[in-house]
Amino acid sequence: MQLEKVVALVTGANGGIGRYYVEALRKVGVSRIYAGARNLNSLSDIVALDSQQIIPISLDITNEQSVRTAAETCPDVTLLINNAGIGLLKGFISATDLSGARAEMEVNYFGTLAMCRAFAPVLKRNGGGAIVNMLSILGKVNFPMNASYSASKAAAISMTQGVRAELAAQGTLVIGVMPGTVDTDGSKYFPPPKVSPEVVAQEALQAVIDGIEDVYPGEQAKEMAAQLLKDPKALEKMMATMLPSHA
Ligand SMILES: NC(=O)c1ccc[n+]([C@@H]2O[C@H](COP(=O)([O-])OP(=O)(O)OC[C@H]3O[C@@H](n4cnc5c(N)ncnc54)[C@H](OP(=O)(O)O)[C@@H]3O)[C@@H](O)[C@H]2O)c1
Repeated sequence: MQLEKVVALVTGANGGIGRYYVEALRKVGVSRIYAGARNLNSLSDIVALDSQQIIPISLDITNEQSVRTAAETCPDVTLLINNAGIGLLKGFISATDLSGARAEMEVNYFGTLAMCRAFAPVLKRNGGGAIVNMLSILGKVNFPMNASYSASKAAAISMTQGVRAELAAQGTLVIGVMPGTVDTDGSKYFPPPKVSPEVVAQEALQAVIDGIEDVYPGEQAKEMAAQLLKDPKALEKMMATMLPSHA
C-alpha cells in the first residue's frame, strides 16, 4: 500500500506512541490525519504541527456512540491505527479486585474490536485499506507484573487474527504490532532495553507499505518472538521471575 494518498485515523493520538504515529505519518506525506483523543485539548500541540493536515476528533473507544460518530465523521479513512490502550500493572491474584482487569479488557480488547467493526465498512467503501492494531509481545507470553494487561493483549492478538480473516475478502490488510518495552511514560518503571516510539511507528508504517501482517519492532521483541518459536517454556519461566511488587 502506498502511503501518499492515505487518510489515517490514529486513536490515542495524544499519548506516548500515538504522537509518533502522527509525526511518522506526516513525514511520509499522507493526505490527512484524524487524531483521536478523549480530551480534545490534549491534542492542541499536535494539531499545531499542521492544522490543515491534522484534524482533531473526540474519541473514546469504549463508548459505542463515540466510536459510531467517529466512523460517520471520518468517512474517507483508508488506514486505521488502533493505538489507544491501557496497562495498569496489576497481578491476577495480588490485585485487590477485578476492576483493573476489566478496564484493560474494555479498552485493549473490546474498544479495539469496536473500532475494527465500525471502520470495516468505511475501509471497504474506500477500496480496502489497512488496520494497524497496537498489540504487545506480552500478549504472547504473560508478564506477571502486568498480568491482566498481558491477557487483554492476548485477546487482542486473537481478535486481530480473526478480523484479518474476515476482512481478507474486502482487501483490508490487518497488521498486528507487537513491541517489547517502548520508551514512553507508560513504561517508566520498566528496566531497559526499550525501543524508541519513533522506531515502533516507522516499522509499523513500513509494514503497511510492504504488506507484512506481524511486526515485532526493536531488538527485544524480535528476540522474544524468536525465543517463543524455539523454547516458549523457558521464556515463560524467565517472565515468571518478574512478579508484581505487592505479590
Ligand atoms: N509503552 C510500552 O512499553 C508499550 C509496549 C507495547 C505496546 N504498547 C501499546 O502501545 C499503545 C500506546 O501505548 P503508549 O505507551 O503510548 O501509552 P500511553 O502514553 O499511556 O498512551 C495511551 C493512549 O491511549 C489513550 N486511551 C486510553 N484509553 C482510551 C479510551 N478509552 N479511548 C481512547 N483513547 C484511550 C490515552 O488517552 P488519554 O490521554 O485520554 O488517557 C493515550 O492517548 C497501547 O496500546 C499500549 O498497550 C505500549
